[in-house]
Amino acid sequence: MQSSKISESAILETSYNRIDWQGGYESLYQEFDYWIDDIEGQIPGELQGTLFRNGPGLLDINGQRIHHPFDGDGMISRISFVNGRAHFRNRYVRTEDYIAEQKAGKILYRGVFGTQKPGGWLANIFDFKFKTLANTNVIYWGSKLLALWEAAEPHRLDPHTLETLGREYFNGVLSTGEAFSAHPRLDPSCQQDNGAPCLVNFSIQPGLSTKITIFELNPAGEIIRKHAYSVPGFCFIHDFVITANYCIFFQNPVSFNPLPMALGIRAAGECIKFNPHQPTRVIVIPRNPRGKEDIKILETQSGFVFHHVNAFEVGDKIVIDSICYDALAEVEPQSDFRQVNFEANAPGQLWRFKLQLQNGTVERKLLESRCCEFPSINPANVGHQYRYLYIGAAHAETGNAPLQAILKIDLDSGEKQLWSAAPRGFMGEPIFVPRPGSEREDDGWLLALVYDAAHHRSDVVILDARDLNKGAIARLHLKHHIPYGLHGSFTSEVFV
Ligand code: CO
Repeated sequence: MQSSKISESAILETSYNRIDWQGGYESLYQEFDYWIDDIEGQIPGELQGTLFRNGPGLLDINGQRIHHPFDGDGMISRISFVNGRAHFRNRYVRTEDYIAEQKAGKILYRGVFGTQKPGGWLANIFDFKFKTLANTNVIYWGSKLLALWEAAEPHRLDPHTLETLGREYFNGVLSTGEAFSAHPRLDPSCQQDNGAPCLVNFSIQPGLSTKITIFELNPAGEIIRKHAYSVPGFCFIHDFVITANYCIFFQNPVSFNPLPMALGIRAAGECIKFNPHQPTRVIVIPRNPRGKEDIKILETQSGFVFHHVNAFEVGDKIVIDSICYDALAEVEPQSDFRQVNFEANAPGQLWRFKLQLQNGTVERKLLESRCCEFPSINPANVGHQYRYLYIGAAHAETGNAPLQAILKIDLDSGEKQLWSAAPRGFMGEPIFVPRPGSEREDDGWLLALVYDAAHHRSDVVILDARDLNKGAIARLHLKHHIPYGLHGSFTSEVFV
């Protein structure tokens, strides 16, 4: 069903129905371990490696519903591809708070995004102990599998069993309680390390002024550079981008009023207010801590950014592609996220920003107006000029709706391809996996988890990234659903 141009008198026709969509927000309590037998199409033999995914697997604690999916316990899914076969395993990250709540059989902690302990404001007043989670991303770097959440240390897992090994401090370079964001960027050829790959990450310590710390890790998984900066004002920053020489952050125009949180009426995520009349600040931090260049702060028009696609330098300009929202949908204390009115919220749209560092100007241009989120590119192009991007997208061209499709955009020609799982399929983040040995930027596969409401189960979908119009080359039917997840990554190593 393609929703046609919406005239004011027309009844809104959607590509999905809400009950179907809500099915993907049921908890998955079991932990599985099996070879996937129910397959349509064929898994390419050259596709060898492991797809790791993370996301909130529990949307309730023993029947007590959490307030927002971002407060849900992290569940790792591992799909291993080996010799044309695929194996599935999932495990919860055993954070201390997960273990305590499962043992107690009830909600013990406040969540950053609105989950309150039972008992009203009296039970929550002046309780600043928020639940520690590990639900946002999972990476394999330096022989360590790490579950990431932006407000705490990573949790290290055994890649073979997915058993939780404990918090990771990188030989003491990270201190107790120090955050390590969920959005590292992998520089395929770091200038400071003679072209060796390097993982760049950051942490945000918000306050009246905000401390931004940059971490760079070598292929052995050691932090080899760590430097911190203070920027004026409160920051709500989830993601960043890198180029050869810079880390770039968008300081969204939000303010934070902690009083209702202290009083136990609202959670931290509900105290953030979007200010549409304030500019967004673009913070440009040189990656080389020993260099002579200073941090620069530029301004552009307002909007809210969770995720960026990529960035690169062209002469003295920096180009950044990002998903922007006209406004931030605020989390309301009494609301139920399952009842969200998609049509009332602003869609994420793809914008290109051009920064001129010399004169401090920022130009911006809309590249794609279709509702989209969760971008992916060829990992060889991170921080460099690139041509193709892949992104989760709504089925319809206009309006805000759940992601049901994957959109491929050729940034040179403007050509677009769309593969849609509508009306009953709901799309997770696609991951681009290059075909081994290939030089062509779009020669590879897209891997995504799609929730199939018709069977209340999830599929691992494999697409040929060169041509989405061919349809899925394989659909691997899992025996169960996987609740809507957040981020994941692929490694060519196999752990079965
Ligand atoms: Co994210």
